[in-house]
Amino acid sequence: MITINITNQPVPSAAQKFTFFTEEMWKKAQNNYPPTLQNLFSGKKNEVFVSAEESSVDFMIGLGANPQNFEIQAAASKFAYDFRKKIQSVPTSINDGEFNQDQAGELAKGLFLGTYSYPFKGEHLFFKPEFSAVLQSVSEEGLKNLQLKILALCEGQFACMEWLNKPQNFKKVPHISQFLQEISEKHQLKRTVFNRKESEDLGLGAFVSVNQGSAQEAAFTVLEYKTDVKDAKTIGLVGKCVLFDTGGISIKPSENLHYMKSDMGGATAVIGALIAAATLKLPVNLVVILPITDNAVSNTASIPSDVVTAYNGKTIEVLNTDAEGRMTLADGLSYLSKNYKTDALIDLATLTGSSVRMFGYTCGAYFSNNENLKNALEKSGDATNQRLWNLPLWDIWKDDFKSDVADFKNISSKPFGDCIIAGKFLEQFIEGHPNWAHLDIAGVAFGNVGYMTEKGATGYGVQLLLDFLENYS
Ligand code: BES
Ligand code: MG
Ligand code: ZN
Repeated sequence: MITINITNQPVPSAAQKFTFFTEEMWKKAQNNYPPTLQNLFSGKKNEVFVSAEESSVDFMIGLGANPQNFEIQAAASKFAYDFRKKIQSVPTSINDGEFNQDQAGELAKGLFLGTYSYPFKGEHLFFKPEFSAVLQSVSEEGLKNLQLKILALCEGQFACMEWLNKPQNFKKVPHISQFLQEISEKHQLKRTVFNRKESEDLGLGAFVSVNQGSAQEAAFTVLEYKTDVKDAKTIGLVGKCVLFDTGGISIKPSENLHYMKSDMGGATAVIGALIAAATLKLPVNLVVILPITDNAVSNTASIPSDVVTAYNGKTIEVLNTDAEGRMTLADGLSYLSKNYKTDALIDLATLTGSSVRMFGYTCGAYFSNNENLKNALEKSGDATNQRLWNLPLWDIWKDDFKSDVADFKNISSKPFGDCIIAGKFLEQFIEGHPNWAHLDIAGVAFGNVGYMTEKGATGYGVQLLLDFLENYS
């Protein structure tokens, strides 16, 4: 359990004080500081100046020139991480100088979120009851909201990052299922799980074809969050949850194979957003589908040439068992579309290497059949710096995965544009939903992060989805 304290009253006896400045703010404020300081601090991004006296320490932290909100969050986040072990004594206060309410909020978000490292223990000073972030520009009303918002965001984002970072043998199906049961109890979510036999009986043949080679049970999981607010919108969210992707019989090369523990990055983004949304009691209904399995190699595994029948009755020729994500999502999407009425349907997945080669670590690739949804998602991506770039879904690509022996092949006959092929493939399983988006986040969910020497979870998707849900509902 973590606590978050934010006040707008100065802490009188603060032993440690953090003051954040943009370059513009520093120019105005520097006359109030000793002239000896003027060449030592300028407010540049990530600049930190520390002055210590007998019983107090002042930190001055630069945020750069005219920073956007997400840049304020990023700079505060970096500071919190770099100084997380040095900042020890309480009382401590953060001073927000002349920021407006939104900027102060970003500052505080960054400080709390930035403390994450794996494994997360929540023992950072900022989470102790004695710690207060003093945000003088935030109103009484705003304080309560901000405090709840940051707590919700931390709980969601830390859960997201923690599960993605866990080693393969720490995130077996029973582990993640138990966690999902716990959050369901905590937030009164309705939870339904289908194991392999039940999935088979239901006709989730595409999903089962991925799970059939595994020593682990399948867990096709449905989580429902309901608001009391009348006439609220219902959003369907599907997250790719391949706990580890060996590639199956079409096995992957061993180099960097350990990173395939991150193949549940779509699911962890959705789980993080669900936790945050439920904590904040957002006025929206959520139906979340996580088709949980690993993609293993064994003598019962699916073999190239297999033909399976998906939940919507379409047949799929499995030509590459490493294109497993689209198999699990196909059934996730059609199960959701056939059994729930949703105003928007969004899936997130670490789906293709192709999207990584296209956009690297800079943005997710997204596909959608609805202009309003596109605009809303892109806007949230820009606001949170968890960016998205749109790619087309033209019908010509459908020809590339026509099969001779089934409705579709699970890969293209051509060696290019696989992230588009995968998006177009998924479109065949949304059952005509008029408001669908697919987010391929393979490049952004897991990457270079400050808290690990190797790659780690970025938390991508949680703030993006939360911002989207707040504004779309
Ligand atoms: N999980 C991978 C995609 C991936 C690649 C995620 C890199 C994160 C980083 C997916 O299941 C996969 O293996 N895709 C194949 C598809 C191919 C066989 C058509 C790929 O992209 O190589
Ligand atoms: Mg794969
Ligand atoms: Zn995969």
